[in-house]
Amino acid sequence: MSASFSLSGRTVVVTGAARGLGAAFATGLAEAGADLVLVDRTEPAETAAAVISLGRRCRSYVADLAETPELAPLVDTIRREAGPIHVLVNNAGVARLEQFNEITPAGWREVMAVNAEAPFFLAQRVAEHMIADGIEGRIVNISSKNGLVAEAGLAHYNASKAALELITKSLAAELGPHGITCNAVAPGMIETPIADDFDVDLAGLFEAWRARIPLRGGFGRPEDCVGAVVYLASDAGRYVTGTTLLVDGGALADQLPRLRFLPPYRSSL
Ligand SMILES: NC(=O)c1ccc[n+]([C@@H]2O[C@H](COP(=O)([O-])OP(=O)(O)OC[C@H]3O[C@@H](n4cnc5c(N)ncnc54)[C@H](O)[C@@H]3O)[C@@H](O)[C@H]2O)c1
Repeated sequence: MSASFSLSGRTVVVTGAARGLGAAFATGLAEAGADLVLVDRTEPAETAAAVISLGRRCRSYVADLAETPELAPLVDTIRREAGPIHVLVNNAGVARLEQFNEITPAGWREVMAVNAEAPFFLAQRVAEHMIADGIEGRIVNISSKNGLVAEAGLAHYNASKAALELITKSLAAELGPHGITCNAVAPGMIETPIADDFDVDLAGLFEAWRARIPLRGGFGRPEDCVGAVVYLASDAGRYVTGTTLLVDGGALADQLPRLRFLPPYRSSL
């Protein structure tokens, strides 16, 4: 069974790999046997060291993914220097917490550029290389619960992740005949620094969120999302395409955390 989850001999590109979820994905994919290509706007030195310490090959590229015209040349460089690309994990993302009337056109464009445009144009070029190389590749887009349900103060983020959801289905439809799958992983509330710059009572916000998560333990850790990505990147996920795997501790399964107001659990055994 474990052989179908192995990524041995595959080269995986992970964007936003310097920290948070991207760093966990890179390390987890290396543990599954993959060689890694890391892309980030800051040098992903710690992640690269972790990948190399697992005995895997690793190359790093510093690039600002908001610069759309530079994405195709970046992919071409990666293909030339690292060889055929088997998997692309579009993970880099930005979030800003601001009310609808505070969002500027430049801020809107940046969020859309990093969270939706870059994943599309990276996938576009990577898929062309996969087809030319005869590879039945995998594209995994890191979406969000916010691509499925809105959250106040994040109109641009919500819209960018909803766009990524339909980019995922569109690419699944067009790349299926080439044997390439495209899926999304939608994390819920995961402990990373993504909200550190939010100008808000973060402790209060997190407390409200924690009350929404049915599964014991509250927020997820980046490692909790790794299995979903490895699965979709591997042979085990061969027949899965155009879908979204929600990894949210059940947050979206429950409309209202009403259980807190019911009498405590009593066993009927
Ligand atoms: N943490 C969560 O709770 C959560 C929930 C749902 C979805 N997500 C998604 O998961 C992904 C990773 O989030 P995270 O929580 O690890 O965030 P993070 O802020 O910790 O890491 C994001 C990484 O992306 C890189 N990045 C951002 N803009 C870039 C750009 N223009 N060019 C190149 N690299 C850039 C950053 O340098 C950083 O290394 C994002 O797409 C995010 O939307 C996170």
